[in-house]
Amino acid sequence: MEKKSTYEQLRPLLRPATVAVIGASRSPEKIGYQVLKNLLDGGYPPDKVFPINPKATQILGLKCYPSVKDVPVPVDLAVIVVPARIVPIVLKDCAKKKVKAVAIISAGFKEVGNVEAELELVKIARSAGMRLLGPNIVGVCDTVEGVNASFCQGLPLKGEIAFITQSGALAIGLVGWTVLKKIGLSDLVSIGNKADVNEIDLMEFFAEDPYTKVITIYLEGTDDGRRFLEVAKKVTKCKPVIVLKAGKTERTVAAIKSHTGSLAGSDIAYDAAFKQSGVLRASNFIELFNWAVALAKAPLPRGENVIIITNGGGAGVMATDAASEYGLKLMDIPRDLAEKLRKFMPPFGSTLNPVDLTGMATREWYEGALRVALEDHRVDAVVVLYCHTAITSPLDIADGLITAYKATGARKPVVAAFIGGIECEKAYQKLTKAGIPAYASPEEAVSALGAIYQYARYLRKPKRTYPTIKVDRERVAKLIYGALKEGRRALSPAEAAEVALAYGIPVPEKPLAKSEEEAVVISNRLGYPVVLEVESPQIIHKTEVGGIKLNIKDAEGVRKAYREILESVRKLAPEATIKGVIVRKMIPQGKEVIVGMHRDPVFGPVIMFGAGGILVELMKDVSFRIAPVSMEDAEEMMKETKVYALLKGFRGESESDIESVKEVILRVSKLALDFPEISDIDVNPLFTYEKGKGCIAVDVKIMMQR
Ligand code: COA
Repeated sequence: MEKKSTYEQLRPLLRPATVAVIGASRSPEKIGYQVLKNLLDGGYPPDKVFPINPKATQILGLKCYPSVKDVPVPVDLAVIVVPARIVPIVLKDCAKKKVKAVAIISAGFKEVGNVEAELELVKIARSAGMRLLGPNIVGVCDTVEGVNASFCQGLPLKGEIAFITQSGALAIGLVGWTVLKKIGLSDLVSIGNKADVNEIDLMEFFAEDPYTKVITIYLEGTDDGRRFLEVAKKVTKCKPVIVLKAGKTERTVAAIKSHTGSLAGSDIAYDAAFKQSGVLRASNFIELFNWAVALAKAPLPRGENVIIITNGGGAGVMATDAASEYGLKLMDIPRDLAEKLRKFMPPFGSTLNPVDLTGMATREWYEGALRVALEDHRVDAVVVLYCHTAITSPLDIADGLITAYKATGARKPVVAAFIGGIECEKAYQKLTKAGIPAYASPEEAVSALGAIYQYARYLRKPKRTYPTIKVDRERVAKLIYGALKEGRRALSPAEAAEVALAYGIPVPEKPLAKSEEEAVVISNRLGYPVVLEVESPQIIHKTEVGGIKLNIKDAEGVRKAYREILESVRKLAPEATIKGVIVRKMIPQGKEVIVGMHRDPVFGPVIMFGAGGILVELMKDVSFRIAPVSMEDAEEMMKETKVYALLKGFRGESESDIESVKEVILRVSKLALDFPEISDIDVNPLFTYEKGKGCIAVDVKIMMQR
């Protein structure tokens, strides 16, 4: 039999034709009673609701059944509200009844350490082909069919935003808040312990759901980062996904030794994954819903030119500051457009951007100015700001704006901020309904337009390309498995350099000298000046133990440096085995960058690029992507850093070989994907020379998983 799509599998859960409430209680103070009451109060047809309780014959006027098996019709969704120890018993009944989906509200499973019991539930559900939501949830609210299978206070308002939440309490609280703010939802789904159905499945469902325009998620963590990334990439192509990811701050994990590892915390991996898959990341729940409303209501802009229209200088200044923060480009208003705008302001108004209609602005002026702006093909989006004055009524101004917006075809995004009291609130709710997302402050309006732009820009990004990279995989396998066999968790510098070479990452020749005399012979062959560095599997950061000497000009210097290195390392790292001293030619100084990798437990290899050298952690001028990194990703991640300006040629300096660095990024990404044994890579510093002259990895560190 053909496997059903996630959409088909989850339909009975989110758009059920019949619902059984197992544990429907006779006592109004119990959750099981409230779930049943919610279903009826929400308007779901009573003849499709089946209370299950062996001790009752009737609850809330409905006939009660001792078991779900006794229900005379097929059951799409069973909501389970009995104590944890009874859940497996009633779940087995559901399996026998061939119930299509279950939502388990009951707590007392994985969240309190009852992992086995939870796995047992999944086993029962899977063997019967049932999808299982929860356990430990508030339930599901579906405003499409009017199903309130939850113990939330009532149903949310009908709308086009799906809200998936890992926190049940947040779901309960936000129902009231969204009603207050007149924000409509298509569904509210509490995912609790995510034993089976998780946020990724639901993203897939809502991507296909015709009633949902925007998907919002409150997320504490995903269990399958790679699948999240894959599915999110597909979903965001057709619908915006906005995530509020909690748990940004982590306690620093001690004993991380690579530069990349100490910067690439798990929140960074989430950030990179969101960026790569077009998921917008909100920083609080107000922003989450403000953005969702904007994306559900407004069209996407075609270009970058934004105009601000205001009746107050202060509001305009605030919006201008916010525009720079949220990446909006305020256009220089062309003279002919300025002349047209002049007709809607007093002589002391301003046609610069923000366009200031002044405190004298009337409905006619707002309407006229917005109309003129929207009619101009050079304008792509408009922010309208209004401060409630005694000479105007907010609702009247809103009507004027709606008239202008509709008259011009409602094809460009317009957001608004109405600053004032209750009348303003009524006005901005009316505007939002009409397709002009409106808010209480300039920052909120600009941030919402910023989200619209973030999404539009993501959709416009060029297709990702992944060039074929030739490498010597066998050579690397030998080195890595050899080191692991010896119980080592890091490759020696010489081994790491060999790995780099096998993967086409340019490194200098690094012969090993086992004596002072040998170091001199090698130095004479390579030519001066040379660098000497200790070779020891235990020493990762050589500078810290005096294990490296630069710019040695003659044989005498080599002898002295050799002795000093040995002396210093023996003193500062007495436990380290010294295999000898590497001699390499002093490499001409280039621009220092770093390319690194840290393997994240959720998303896998996180690739880093940034300003290199010994101050990496201090500078924190770095950017991240999840492997595989495409050509375009590599370019974008480089452009996100300040060091990129340096590579482009800062203050008249010539441009560096950016292409060669991009290639190193792709090669490190491939190395990380080919060898899951590798936990961390630091290519640092990577000296980058003038365009056409390439780059060279002065030092390469490779560590393996514990
Ligand atoms: N089939 C159906 N109903 C059954 C049953 C069975 N096999 N066995 C018992 N019941 C009935 C009970 O008789 C009772 O009905 P009654 O009040 O009319 O007698 C009803 O089911 C509920 O059982 P009860 O033992 O009273 O449980 P409860 O209501 O005190 O608690 C839960 C049940 C699920 C609410 C509770 O165990 C729980 O998990 N609470 C936490 C929920 C939560 O916080 N979820 C996460 C939110 S984020």
